[in-house]
Amino acid sequence: MVGIGYRKEFSKTFLNTDVLQPDFVEVAPENWMGIGGYWKKELKQVMEKYPLYCHGLSLSVGSPEGVDKDFVKQVKQFLEDTQAVLYSEHLTFSKVDNAHLYDLLPIPFTQEAVERVSENILQVQDILKRPLILENGSYYTVLKAEMSEADFINEIVSRTGCELLLDVNNVYVNAFNFKYDAEKFIQSMPLDKVKYIHMAGHYKVNDHLIIDTHGEDIIDPVYNLLAWTMEKTGKDIPVLLERDFNIPELENLQYEIDTLKLLKNEILTLQLDTEYGQ
Ligand SMILES: [Fe+2]
Repeated sequence: MVGIGYRKEFSKTFLNTDVLQPDFVEVAPENWMGIGGYWKKELKQVMEKYPLYCHGLSLSVGSPEGVDKDFVKQVKQFLEDTQAVLYSEHLTFSKVDNAHLYDLLPIPFTQEAVERVSENILQVQDILKRPLILENGSYYTVLKAEMSEADFINEIVSRTGCELLLDVNNVYVNAFNFKYDAEKFIQSMPLDKVKYIHMAGHYKVNDHLIIDTHGEDIIDPVYNLLAWTMEKTGKDIPVLLERDFNIPELENLQYEIDTLKLLKNEILTLQLDTEYGQ
């Protein structure tokens, strides 16, 4: 299964074309909860055609003050109403003292944070009655680290029983910027807990910095990293193509979906370029 992040930018054409044919669509519940009128009707039409996956933006499991339980209950209702196949979120924080920061910021890799975040996750899972599926983020500075990111994630998974959304492009971006081995990082994840995979493009600023923009095509080294990852995790995990900005023609999006499908089905076994930017 290969899906696409549903964007209002292409919604009109999407419902009336067979050019773009993902296996499922992903939406952020926050953007659709409580809507009425035109967009409610449109969401219904999308759901008639495609299975719905949900990927939240504002749960903020890393917030020191805890999670907003009323918000979690609203999400739960939305998941039930839409019969969403899965619900994932970010292992980041985006809220402090009720101020929304409108960004997904890295949680400091500390023991204190492990305890606080685990407590938040357990509360959310208690309301949702299902494991949370949390995504590894991209980051550009490491705040007050007492442990590695891999140890941080492993500790949280073992304390809470949560599951993982492995964003392969985020791993690539962090490994490039902080000069570590992306395959080694993925190998150190609890791979049996990976239930969902994200793939995206990023922007190269210079030879030392790339930024996770979701605004470019996926590059070959990231496809290669996915192929390598799926040898470890198995091929049945659903993969999402994220494209949030600089959205190309629908044909181009379908080309990327097709490439992902070929890789997943091991039909594409060509050795893609491994060097950056070729
Ligand atoms: Fe992602």
